[in-house]
Amino acid sequence: MDAIVSLCRRRGFVFPSSEIYGGLGSTYDYGHYGVLMKNNIRSLWLQAMVQERDDIVALDSAIILNPRVWEASGHVGGFVDPLVDCRTCKLRFRADQLDQASCGRKPSKRPGETPDCDLTEARQFNLMFTTQVGALEDESSLAYLRPETAQGIFINFKNVLQLARRKPPFGIAQVGKSFRNEITPGNFLFRVREFEQMEMEYFVPPADAERWYRYWIDQRFDWYLAHGIREENLRKREHSAEERSHYSSGTTDIEYRYPIGWSELEGVANRGDYDLTQHTEHSGTKLEFVGEGGERYTPYVVEPAVSIERIFVAMLVDAYHEEVVAERDRTVLRLHPAIAPVKAAVLPLIPRSAEMVEKARGLYEHLRHVLAVEYDDSGQIGRRYRRQDEIGTPYALTIDEQTLADDTVTIRDRDSLAQERISIASAREHLLDRLAAPWRPPGPG
Ligand code: GAP
Repeated sequence: MDAIVSLCRRRGFVFPSSEIYGGLGSTYDYGHYGVLMKNNIRSLWLQAMVQERDDIVALDSAIILNPRVWEASGHVGGFVDPLVDCRTCKLRFRADQLDQASCGRKPSKRPGETPDCDLTEARQFNLMFTTQVGALEDESSLAYLRPETAQGIFINFKNVLQLARRKPPFGIAQVGKSFRNEITPGNFLFRVREFEQMEMEYFVPPADAERWYRYWIDQRFDWYLAHGIREENLRKREHSAEERSHYSSGTTDIEYRYPIGWSELEGVANRGDYDLTQHTEHSGTKLEFVGEGGERYTPYVVEPAVSIERIFVAMLVDAYHEEVVAERDRTVLRLHPAIAPVKAAVLPLIPRSAEMVEKARGLYEHLRHVLAVEYDDSGQIGRRYRRQDEIGTPYALTIDEQTLADDTVTIRDRDSLAQERISIASAREHLLDRLAAPWRPPGPG
């Protein structure tokens, strides 16, 4: 993980937030390449969930909702973790994860293990951030930053059912920021307090819920394979009854083998009719499906839920590779081309050559209308290749002496390092074809 955090910083993917003020624990800002990569993850998720399907529509609900939403959902009463404070080192820990935490004093031990540790009794700590809406700062203005995007979907069930003219099975997909005051955030972006969730609530006839639950587990698993994650680093893990959330009658985690060990990447849950029933009771608005023949029922909900952050880290871990090529170290991100922030670099071999620069700029302008491409004329060509390898750019197009004679360029493949000559006239089509071809990660991870 350290190598990845360092690469992210060095190459401008992700920085610690508020750094000039000493930072704010486990909060991050995304730089240029991080933004481009996040955009790719988000749009590929939306493509698979909404664009390529007839049965799912998009939604973008507010972050701050009526606080009664969170009473109905069970978050006000139950979205808690057990917390203990250490009166000596002043750190806070999750009572159920003391065996993974480090005491704040040296030599580092587990909290409670040194004679000086003075832990409080565990108490329940609600993970929702509170805020005030309006000018009055009393209880009537209390509101929450949403800890999940899902509830914004449930409270819009009736709108979508009527206005999008859908009937079960159908789904509503939403991408947006969620906030949790995690007691122990950490492991880079894996557990943060502000993250971007991608959730889809799929409403089905109760009798079909189990089948759709299995279907979505497989769909989501396959989505990761299709976007380059190595199969040996992915697995499905079904929760035991004790482990499941209060609303769930079945949950399966798609786990990734992160550097911290196998951990939840995405959760797929069978939420039954819990949410629609709760909101019906609390709001007084009936959230049910009424068929043309008069049949009525409260649909069950199957939910795949993930954050862009967890995917972002998994994809970087899977792609990160160090090797020695021609006696020189090379660090390369073998990202799936669709995920890579930049698709191709255009490089004049000799930056001092006005003719090469002109040709390269011309090709760059031609490509940038359809693709995220980068022009680079600073430093030796080998250095420029290395820079592109480190940000995962799948192709580099180099303008050299021969280009000036016959209008061809070399195209270098990030993974195989093979170089081929193609004509400038065909470069755009050629690149688009290569980028659209199926891709599997080369070699071991
Ligand atoms: N609506 C259901 C729900 O929110 P969850 O398991 O609490 O379920 C779903 O969260 C997903 O959101 C997780 O699988 C993970 O990908 C992501 N996630 C949850 N907490 C996170 C955090 N603190 N930082 C980054 N991602 C988080």
